[in-house]
Amino acid sequence: MFPALLPTYNRTDVAFVRGEGSYLFAEDGQRYLDFGAGIAVNAFGHGNPKLVGALTEQAGKLWHTSNLYRVPGQESLAAKLVANTFADTVFFTNSGAEACELAFKMARRHHFVNGNPERFHIISFEGAFHGRTLAGIAATGNTKYLEGFGPKAEGFDQATLTGDVARDLEALKALVNEKTAALIIEPVQGEGGVRPVAADFLRALRKLCDDKGILLIFDEIQTGMGRTGKLFAHEWLGIEPDIMCVAKGIGGGFPLGATLATADAAKGMTAGTHGSTYGGNPLAMAVGNAAVDLATAPGFLDHVNKVANYLNQQLGALVAAHPAIFDSVRGQGMMLGLKMKVPNGDFITAARGAGIVVLPAGDNVVRLLPPLTLSEAEAREGLELLGKAAAKLEATA
Ligand SMILES: Cc1ncc(COP(=O)(O)O)c(C=O)c1O
Repeated sequence: MFPALLPTYNRTDVAFVRGEGSYLFAEDGQRYLDFGAGIAVNAFGHGNPKLVGALTEQAGKLWHTSNLYRVPGQESLAAKLVANTFADTVFFTNSGAEACELAFKMARRHHFVNGNPERFHIISFEGAFHGRTLAGIAATGNTKYLEGFGPKAEGFDQATLTGDVARDLEALKALVNEKTAALIIEPVQGEGGVRPVAADFLRALRKLCDDKGILLIFDEIQTGMGRTGKLFAHEWLGIEPDIMCVAKGIGGGFPLGATLATADAAKGMTAGTHGSTYGGNPLAMAVGNAAVDLATAPGFLDHVNKVANYLNQQLGALVAAHPAIFDSVRGQGMMLGLKMKVPNGDFITAARGAGIVVLPAGDNVVRLLPPLTLSEAEAREGLELLGKAAAKLEATA
């Protein structure tokens, strides 16, 4: 019989029923240290009292009104995001894929109202992930995600990303033409294998875009909201995008995304050009406002950087101690990856057996995305559990 639940996921047979800070509890009572955070979503830990309070207070007042009316929570959250970023304007979505979708539409519309409707091509990069809508999979470019879903959406080109800055830039320049509307890139590729993109390359993209009137879109869905130790990863680079996609951490587990933009990039998005029934509804806005308050509170990013530096350093020692299991550690802030010598799935299973949840990523990488509220003692515990998992794999090899 066909499963009642559409079988698009290869799920692990564990059901978590409760979360508390950095820990998850399964239905059999087993406790796990959570180094996955629901794929970079539970940035403020499970059951964060500020987020629970904001959601429950709003739930008692008003759930939904539609975007036909003013939504005060949207106005306050947009003002906070504008005050804390390059952006002049914000649209709220329900997911990351929708934030990317609007970024593509906005970029095309920008050139359309400039009198250049032929400029509708979006260039993405090898190893990217921009969601599972038809445009998202076209930008992602992974044949595994495209297969069987009809012709790839028109106007999406993909450039190589080898890490050799000069070579990648040359290849990109060969792709750019009079049809190019925008480039989209994750400052650190997440699903692709926790691959930080070279700072020089990202700065060169900014310059290329400025020279050619192309819009630069940063997909900070995974890297944003403090994950790399800055509110948004591009702040490390001293450059700004024209459009930015945000999701995951901004809702702390409540479905919320956002597309941020400069006034110039967004100038084509006039009344009637885009919409969403649920986007920015009062429940999401209550949580989003509380999440941004937490991420911008004094000391929050200092904490992230402190624990991240400790983790990064100690992971180096872990890799050195288990050379048959690990190849190397990479990433930025609390977005870390262990490049494996054994299949990443084997290590993830062993880690779960040791009591810690970690995630897979492309390029045979094990991804570590703990809640940003992780304490140093919890980081130490995590390292011990990862060490136990490695030792167990060594013993069975
Ligand atoms: C960089 C990036 N872009 C887009 C998405 C898609 O977000 P969502 O799954 O919320 O649609 C993800 C999700 O993993 C992501 O990491």
